[in-house]
Amino acid sequence: MPNILSLLLRGIKQLGLVTTWDSITYQMRQKRYQARFGSSGPSSRPAKSDYLRPGHITSHTRQGRTVTITCANGSYALTLLAPDLIRVRFHPTPTPQSPLSIPHSYPIAKPDDDWPPCDFHVVETEATVEIKTSRLACRVAKASGKLAFLDLEGNVVNEDEAGVGYHPAGHVICHKRIQPDEHFYGLGERTCRLDRRGRRYEMWNTDPQTYQPDQDPIHLCMPVLLGLHSRGRQGYGILFDNTFRGRFDLGASRADVASFEAEGGELCYYFIYGPALTTVVERYTELTGRMTLPPLWVLGYHQSRWSYCPEARVRKLAADFREVHHVPCDCIHLDIHYMDGYRCFTWDPERFPDPAGLIADLHEQGFKVIVIIDPGIKTDRRYWVCKSGLEQDVFCKYPDGKTLFKGPVWPGNCYFPDFTNPRVRAWWGDLYKVLTDVGVDGVWNDMNEPSVFGPLGTTFPDFVRHDLEGRGGDHVEAHNVYGMQMARATVEGLMRLRPDERPVVITRSGWAGVQRYALSWTGDNEATWEQLWLTMPMLMNLGLSGLAHTGPDVGGFSGFATGELFTRWLQMGVFLPFLRAHTSLHDPDQEPWSWGEPYLSVNRRHIELRYRLLPYLYTAFWQCAQTGLPIVRPLLLAFQDDTATHTLDDQFLCGDAFLVAPVIEEGATRRSVYLPAGVWYDFWTDEPFRGPAHIEVEAPLERVPLFVRAGSVVPLGSPMQYVGEGPADRLTLHVYPGDGEGQLYEDDGHTWAFQNGNYRLTHFILSTDEGPPLRLDLRRQTEGHYEPEYRDFEVVIHGVDRLPHTATADGEPIEQCELDDSGHAIRLYVGLFACLIVEWA
Ligand code: GLC
Repeated sequence: MPNILSLLLRGIKQLGLVTTWDSITYQMRQKRYQARFGSSGPSSRPAKSDYLRPGHITSHTRQGRTVTITCANGSYALTLLAPDLIRVRFHPTPTPQSPLSIPHSYPIAKPDDDWPPCDFHVVETEATVEIKTSRLACRVAKASGKLAFLDLEGNVVNEDEAGVGYHPAGHVICHKRIQPDEHFYGLGERTCRLDRRGRRYEMWNTDPQTYQPDQDPIHLCMPVLLGLHSRGRQGYGILFDNTFRGRFDLGASRADVASFEAEGGELCYYFIYGPALTTVVERYTELTGRMTLPPLWVLGYHQSRWSYCPEARVRKLAADFREVHHVPCDCIHLDIHYMDGYRCFTWDPERFPDPAGLIADLHEQGFKVIVIIDPGIKTDRRYWVCKSGLEQDVFCKYPDGKTLFKGPVWPGNCYFPDFTNPRVRAWWGDLYKVLTDVGVDGVWNDMNEPSVFGPLGTTFPDFVRHDLEGRGGDHVEAHNVYGMQMARATVEGLMRLRPDERPVVITRSGWAGVQRYALSWTGDNEATWEQLWLTMPMLMNLGLSGLAHTGPDVGGFSGFATGELFTRWLQMGVFLPFLRAHTSLHDPDQEPWSWGEPYLSVNRRHIELRYRLLPYLYTAFWQCAQTGLPIVRPLLLAFQDDTATHTLDDQFLCGDAFLVAPVIEEGATRRSVYLPAGVWYDFWTDEPFRGPAHIEVEAPLERVPLFVRAGSVVPLGSPMQYVGEGPADRLTLHVYPGDGEGQLYEDDGHTWAFQNGNYRLTHFILSTDEGPPLRLDLRRQTEGHYEPEYRDFEVVIHGVDRLPHTATADGEPIEQCELDDSGHAIRLYVGLFACLIVEWA
């Protein structure tokens, strides 16, 4: 029994008296409503044997790209969207029907009609009906109606165990067989290891109010699973397109069976064949959408806390960055205390009397400002947003269609907009005008699981009604997409308000496809070493789930990091897509200088490195926007046939060139690193290593273990205090001998002009002849008409310890060539070359 008094006191301390009181009365109200409208919470799980299975096949027909297979107890609609992409829908109605009408789906970004025609043929044998494309076969057993996906040589990629099932109570399920050496990835944001096998995962976005390792679920679930087996030779993906409360069981109940299920809705999933997981991710993000390219400043360093206030504190923070500590920073985040009594779209008149003036001054110093906006709207009829919302009828209601649902969040009792209604999304998006008018640069959408305070439940009751794009349904169906639709409403509003600027929206919750609307941060973590490590599997799996633009609260949200922990976390953060330090209300500031020296200097140096990396990182973002390939990648994405990478979750790849192995233990000054096949250069010493190998590296506090793949060309910019500080007159190309290709993507960094060709994409082709004589040939080709400011390159060739015999750019000798101070690299200074040849005698 929780001690009621201590709960009460904790509540008052965290939330204040009003909210605690609202929380208590909320519980009492909910009990009344439950008696009226039904209970809430996961419904009991039917036994496996109680599900109705397809049974034997009675007939099959083909219409367009869909094959309908009728079985004794239901029918399949198998739709071939691409040779490696099949949608499987099963309905418990045995009567043959024309391809089932396609219901609206929140994750799907590419409707059926937008896929080019896909060639396939249907072959019937004595025991099977088989659909064959140029990549894959989908075989349905006549006797049982079970499915198997096979490659062209007949090897099993994925197969049913009991297969699909319906329960009369509305539950749907699918049981699959787990291959002996199978590993699983994906499922969105989870607090577990990289490999998902052996556990059960709930599909129910939840505010854990600070999570612990292995806690499940948390803020952002995604029903997308990737499987890898046969020593890395087979890889595939499954998107279970069902938003109802559900779960994935990946060998927890039975070691060789995986299942996914939901408490309602349709049994519909998309099967994507690899075998390369890069192909799976590419297809999956073609289906569910990719991020749009963010403005360049978003890649800079962000500073946040709950909450920087009043205005004078924010001004001091800005001065601390620019004038006192000279630590680069692009953005300051304002948490809930900027608002008037936590009322969204208002400013506290005393703490922030002149937001426009403050933001203008911050802009002057090169800072951007992001503000938090929660979904809960205080139930206060004098407050303009509440009044407008009531007039426009935008808030969620109970099943009687009249009573508004209200629940307590920061401001006390709140109404909640129904973001599954397009009309409400439009209303919500327009509200941001009051923020863009005063110069706010981006929006941070929080508490959108949605979260409601109260010990009896942390979200809306199941029976709260939603529009669901006009179809109507209850919260069990709408819950998981609530946050995603909030982010969508926000981004669509920002696009209307500032059509020429790329919008910036950060979300805490989401669902498959949320990457189209927002970046995310990984919510309320803790200042512990274990959570520093956890960041890696969390981000790698989010990337594999399609949401690449994300990052943790560096230093940890709850609790106060030690200087060492913050520095180590920041060193990793330099290579993560979203780099923001943030901390909780009751903890001291976590700023790069909060622990004095030696931490401040190390932190500054690493944030400077982040800024130098911007051309490289921006190119990785551009690649991700083009192909879905994440920025932070598990090693298995690049080395799928190396089984040592399949469970490796304490190091990662950042873009094409870097392997990052952060220090994750207190006091450690060495760590072991796994280098896959090929040559890898130590970024700090230029020492080459040959993989596959486990090596021990020195990792003093001053640096994060970092390796560069041979054959890479890494573009680095100049140090700066913020993006756009001054014209860049030179770009440095770091060349790591070997054979390889590289890219550099450049544009104006904030408008949509790149969509009309105003970008420059540079391809580098590097070939190395080990000799003797050692000879390096670097080709450079560009496309697009964007002209960067710089006209010159500094080319640094690593891993060589003497000046070359000849060095030419487009046939002309290069005048300026010197040995680097380290003695392990040379520097050349050249103009916009097309072909660079360097030779050592
Ligand atoms: C939630 C957010 C956290 C924020 C706090 C106050 O806990 O996850 O980032 O600081 O609310 O708004």
